[in-house]
Amino acid sequence: MKKRYTITAALPYANGPIHIGHLAGAYIPADIYSRFLRLKGNDIIFVCGSDEHGAAIPIRAKKEGISPQKIIDKYHTIIKKSFEDFGISFDNYSRTSSKTHHKIASEFFNDLNNKKIFLEQESEQLYDEKENQFLADRYVEGECPKCNFDGAYGDQCESCGSSLNPTDLINPKSKLSGNKPSLKKTKHWFLPLNKFDNFLKEWFLKEKKEDWKINVFGQVKSWINEGLKPRAITRDLDWGIPVPIKEAIGKVLYVWFDAPIGYISSTVEWAEKEKVDWKPYWQDPNTELVHFIGKDNIVFHCIIFPSILKASEKYILPTNVPANEFLNLEGRKISTSKNWAIWLHEYMKDFPELQDTLRYVLTANAPENKDNDFTWKDFQAKNNNELVAIFGNFINRVVVLTQKYYEGKTPLVETFTEKENDLLDKVYSYPEKIGNSIEKFKFREAINTMIDLARIGNKYLADEEPWKVIKSDDSEKVKTIMNISIQICGILSMVCEPFLPNTSIKLKKQFNIKNTNWDSINKNSPVICEEIEKSNLIFRKIEDEEIELQLEKLNESKK
Ligand code: MF3
Ligand code: ZN
Repeated sequence: MKKRYTITAALPYANGPIHIGHLAGAYIPADIYSRFLRLKGNDIIFVCGSDEHGAAIPIRAKKEGISPQKIIDKYHTIIKKSFEDFGISFDNYSRTSSKTHHKIASEFFNDLNNKKIFLEQESEQLYDEKENQFLADRYVEGECPKCNFDGAYGDQCESCGSSLNPTDLINPKSKLSGNKPSLKKTKHWFLPLNKFDNFLKEWFLKEKKEDWKINVFGQVKSWINEGLKPRAITRDLDWGIPVPIKEAIGKVLYVWFDAPIGYISSTVEWAEKEKVDWKPYWQDPNTELVHFIGKDNIVFHCIIFPSILKASEKYILPTNVPANEFLNLEGRKISTSKNWAIWLHEYMKDFPELQDTLRYVLTANAPENKDNDFTWKDFQAKNNNELVAIFGNFINRVVVLTQKYYEGKTPLVETFTEKENDLLDKVYSYPEKIGNSIEKFKFREAINTMIDLARIGNKYLADEEPWKVIKSDDSEKVKTIMNISIQICGILSMVCEPFLPNTSIKLKKQFNIKNTNWDSINKNSPVICEEIEKSNLIFRKIEDEEIELQLEKLNESKK
């Protein structure tokens, strides 16, 4: 049955380029899911955009000595390009500095404000006397009250994932002057999450969430059970969306209030371009809303944003939030400030044609249920031993043998033996098998199943040895072997699309495959092509020297 899906991937902060951790955490899984559902013929929209507000932006601007506007323009461009390079198939990639977004986010605030949802409260906030500025969120760092990590931000501890208020920090320090902040009274608007307690218990705890990942479910449940407190959704900052009411001059919306609304703005922008109605994607209860994020974003997507959507009364709530854990790099936490990362724009310089390889490794090794480690050695091994030696080798042998025996034309076969029919049944069950794993957000399982199919093909050729049979003069047998092998290549060229989009394009062209619907891959309408093109190898081996170079580059950052 066809369905409508709204699929979102966390809006990356436009305060730096993106690295492999971002890809593995949110964008690759979201892209696999979106591509698969599109191939199934569903009505899907996959949206994202740059997150251009919050203290992170002016802080970066200060560091680079340019204006916040220059910062977001610079990184928005770099990030957008990286997504294109790696085939992340957004229907729209927007940015929260856009007019549309400012308007929609302001309307959200006004709507909830008119409904008297917010609390207005004076409270004491951290203040930098020297700089004459309130220290919102990332403008202050200190010790985390939960895990004692020294270096937690005012809004969040990146070590234990707790979400914090600046005043929670032990020994807070201003990022601007390095001084110890003082306290100063200021008025803010709060979202009274405590009042959403019943709603959240109903929606989240009572509704069956068996299909939610346990890591996500557990975190949200403990949040709810710990008791929720009101949360300020405005800030004393000079960068962001102005709070659209007179009494709040000089204040802006909290970045975590406006950013998730960016998913909606991005949809609206897309709908305007496509000349369609955006509302069904956000307001029709039959639409499935799925947010792909990293684990540090769970509370915002499972508690705060749903409460905002609920309060607005018109919107649907997420069906699922399949958050991933973190990806480490060579045994250490990826860190922007320590330059311990593999930046996508740099990877592109060193491996300009190996986007699918990185997609493959990051999927096969995704931090799906626990943190995971990326190592360059494993990257090389997965490329050489799986993509090249299994997948690529199988395709190449089939292409070469078909050229040699039949001038590239697929030999026709009248009947198959029982054993051959069993094999065909088996290989044609793979699309469904892979699809089931994708639907359950088990992307590692899905990609392993795909490689298994290539393995079956490879083994079939090795067992049947058509190059020997051809000498024995059993030309019918050789036809059968090649016909079946070509069918497996056809299936592979379709099922690899969600994971390896570039490879899929090459294979479909090479094998002349025109059908593009996932469910059309079955034994009754075999994926068979008349003519196979000669072509270059689809994967290439990665040499030890290339890996050593990367390791040296990383070790430079240790110094
Ligand atoms: N910019 C945030 C981060 O990188 C994610 C924002 S997701 C959204 O952690 F929902 F707010 F859009
Ligand atoms: Zn902590």
